[in-house]
Amino acid sequence: MSLTFCNVHFTQQPQNVVYISGSLIKKLKLNGKKKVHLRLGGDRVPAAIKPIQKSGNHLYLASGVRRGIHIPSTGSVYLRSLQQQDEVQLGPLIGVLSDGPTSSLTQPFGSRTGFIKQLLKEGKKQSYIFAFTPKDINWQQETINGYFLNDSGSFYRQRVPLPDVVYNRLPSRRAETTFPIQMLRERFIRRKIPFFNWSFFNKSDVYRLLEDDAQANKYVPESIMNPSPEQIKDMLDRHSFVYYKPSGGSLGKGIYRISYVPKTGYFVRYRKSVGNALQRFSTFNSLIRTLQSRHGRGLQGYVVQQGIRLIEIDGCPIDFRFHMHKDGKNQWVVVGIGAKKAGKGSVTTHIKNGGSLLTPEQALSRAFGSRGDEVLKRAKQTAIKLAESIEYHHRHLIGELGFDFGIDKDEQIWMFEANAKPGRSIFKHPQLRAEGRASVEHILEHCLYLTKFRRRDEP
Ligand SMILES: Nc1ncnc2c1ncn2[C@@H]1O[C@H](COP(=O)(O)OP(=O)(O)O)[C@@H](O)[C@H]1O
Ligand SMILES: [Mg+2]
Repeated sequence: MSLTFCNVHFTQQPQNVVYISGSLIKKLKLNGKKKVHLRLGGDRVPAAIKPIQKSGNHLYLASGVRRGIHIPSTGSVYLRSLQQQDEVQLGPLIGVLSDGPTSSLTQPFGSRTGFIKQLLKEGKKQSYIFAFTPKDINWQQETINGYFLNDSGSFYRQRVPLPDVVYNRLPSRRAETTFPIQMLRERFIRRKIPFFNWSFFNKSDVYRLLEDDAQANKYVPESIMNPSPEQIKDMLDRHSFVYYKPSGGSLGKGIYRISYVPKTGYFVRYRKSVGNALQRFSTFNSLIRTLQSRHGRGLQGYVVQQGIRLIEIDGCPIDFRFHMHKDGKNQWVVVGIGAKKAGKGSVTTHIKNGGSLLTPEQALSRAFGSRGDEVLKRAKQTAIKLAESIEYHHRHLIGELGFDFGIDKDEQIWMFEANAKPGRSIFKHPQLRAEGRASVEHILEHCLYLTKFRRRDEP
């Protein structure tokens, strides 16, 4: 197998002909050959080879070939030559799976449109990359009516074969558990098309994955899935406070921080639609009754977790988002870290709830002084170890993770949550923009790796 970067051009000839520059013929080891098969994603077409005199790596596709394999545009892509199959594959063809409320050409992916455009803009420099929604797939014909980005930054639609890899950013947790989406994933897997990440994680799924892995589990606060009232009470007796949170929740919704003050009662903090609430109950039973009447069977999806006393700045707790990616060599890398400072009286550190964002250096030097660097270094090592453990115990491909980490005053690191489709709000911080770009580059690099369009021995 050999890999070459080249410029793809179109010609108007109707035949199945490909014109190849001399140096490219040599690199692809096609000297003296009359025919080759060209491949894009799941499409393959035979083409007659015509050598041309031109310096550099150039490929001119006649319209017969171009239509035969749905080449979306001219530009620079990789060529992967598989001599045994007499085949040259153009690509990779990368599909970004998402969805949105409408299929308008301006905002087809709702609030995710900006990120998807950023990904397509970077990606099209070295691949064929498009975004699509589940309804754009035609499984009978094995084609997708994708959204491509033109040079002026607008979307246009183009039908292409099934891609070489799918980066999954489907936005709805609920939709993802439905039969059609499960089928969709199975269909990609059956065709051996790498699909990452598989789906959103539930908190309890991740805690369970790590349960028997002592090296990783020591970073997870003690947690019980669907606890009985007695188990909650028992945890409260052993820890000064607990977090009671929905396993499939996000953005701090439905989270309670429960503490017990002897002789005074039980205190519950939570977020209301506007502002934060603090409620006192004189007995444990009255507290549980209130939660039960508010959530009913919904509490079955809750987890109770040992509360961690987070380090604080200006009297406000801080925790950390570690944004992790797999790179072009299939190794986990910490690509960006945001320190999140809770808003006054808030049970979580979410920006939406009055929190603010700092760089990890700012936060840790204020919390630990000169020990900050050392704590950060250890937290990064822990993040990599945890990502490796989650990946090892999970049955499907994972290429990206967003950890919510807490650190206590003894410098112990705790993992509250691992997100399989991490949000990107930390990258809006002016000092984390470069990390945001690095994140996009890592996604693309990892796509190259998964599609074998990246040499395994490349530096
Ligand atoms: N066990 C805990 N101890 C202390 N703080 C916690 C604990 N669990 C969650 N938190 C706080 O609540 C925030 C939200 O919790 P998380 O598990 O990430 O849920 P969500 O899915 O809503 O983001 C965390 O970032 C952290 O600030
Ligand atoms: Mg979280």
